[in-house]
Amino acid sequence: MDMIHLKAPGQWMNDPNGFIYYKGEYHLFYQYFPYEPRWGTMHWGHAISTDLVHWEHKGIALFPSKYDDRNGCFSGSAIEHEGRMYLYYTGVRYLEENPEDIHLCQCERFISAQMMITSDDGIHFDNIHDKKTIISPVDNPMTGCKTHMRDPKVWKGKDGWYMIIGTRTTEDKGKLLFYKSLDLDQWDFVNDVSKEENFGWMWECPDYFETDGQQVLVFSPMGILKDGKKIEDHAICTIVDFEEESCSMNIPDEYQYFDYGLDLYAAQSTTDEQGRRVIVAWARMPEVTKENWIGMFCAPRLVEVKDGHIYFRVHPNIKEAFSREINSPKEAGEGGYRLTLELLEGEELNIGGYRISRKDGRIHTDRRQVFGHHEDYRMEFETPEVKEGYELDIYVDPNLIEVYVNNGEYVITNTVYDLGDRIETTDQKEVRLFAVEKI
Ligand code: FRU
Repeated sequence: MDMIHLKAPGQWMNDPNGFIYYKGEYHLFYQYFPYEPRWGTMHWGHAISTDLVHWEHKGIALFPSKYDDRNGCFSGSAIEHEGRMYLYYTGVRYLEENPEDIHLCQCERFISAQMMITSDDGIHFDNIHDKKTIISPVDNPMTGCKTHMRDPKVWKGKDGWYMIIGTRTTEDKGKLLFYKSLDLDQWDFVNDVSKEENFGWMWECPDYFETDGQQVLVFSPMGILKDGKKIEDHAICTIVDFEEESCSMNIPDEYQYFDYGLDLYAAQSTTDEQGRRVIVAWARMPEVTKENWIGMFCAPRLVEVKDGHIYFRVHPNIKEAFSREINSPKEAGEGGYRLTLELLEGEELNIGGYRISRKDGRIHTDRRQVFGHHEDYRMEFETPEVKEGYELDIYVDPNLIEVYVNNGEYVITNTVYDLGDRIETTDQKEVRLFAVEKI
């Protein structure tokens, strides 16, 4: 059982997939390589929860079984229709086998198709007898790229079902494709949307939804961070103007980062038990943990929009789970601890080597002392200027720190290693610590 943060149950995990509240339980699937703690032939691992706090691992749901997904079941989403769960994902097939490592593709020579599998209980999936392929690899490069076309997200619109898929243009710009279906099985291409400049070469994991009367796009452009560091891909979000019938979407030039720690990627949302928009994302880790797993998710966050700003607030179930006030991190059990304080201009907080400070109205973090020797990764992070106050709500897990600034005005989430137990603040300022009730 995992608490707060879903983690790879051994070996490797990346993106969240098929996130849905279905028949009274949350289902969260994930990109999973079950053989080694590294990326390889993708399966969908599966976990369920009744409260978004405690997660029970359910093993493998999807695995390669058809010609079109023989080399991997890539990312995708879930919907419910008439009591059935429908999972949509991308199947990949390598055009050439790599004789030394059949789990990796050579020279990007692979083909993508869009696939579907259904289940009447959300637990059993028939990988062998389901048809799977619903959209064959595209053959017109003006529509999409037959290699880089993936991560279908499906939702119910006013007069049918819609699917958004990430791809790239023939000029190497990220692009979205929209498809429509009346029966969830037969899908027709409706429109494509791209941006001229500064939005990377390929758009992964697009997610479109409405919340607070606003239309929001969250996606993960590849090649958008150009500061010379190893990872150039990052999740961003923006309020868009979407017209459903024609599937036309106007994407503005300005955007927010999904998270200012620059470690989170491939975010995916659904609606929670109360119909609120909730989102999770994959925290990229540079190194395998001592327990031989790599990859975890951030805590589920509510997405809200106010005055043109997108907020990511820790889900209330998470906040409420930390109901036991403690005096020291040593008293925290599984699930880590929650730390709250007001951090004023010029002040600093040091959580076991992870430093958080406020300068020029911005929250700044520094993980140099708790990140090993990964010089090609980013070490320092900063929010834009904050407007709403001084409140920090921080969730500390041995490998992940989430810093919520003013209840989600901005969030900085960072992966860390070998965090210490000492907490220090400027002038021994008061901090409050909370742990999860023992179960
Ligand atoms: C994003 C991503 C997706 C793809 C999956 C493969 O991290 O590259 O675009 O479907 O991971 O594991």
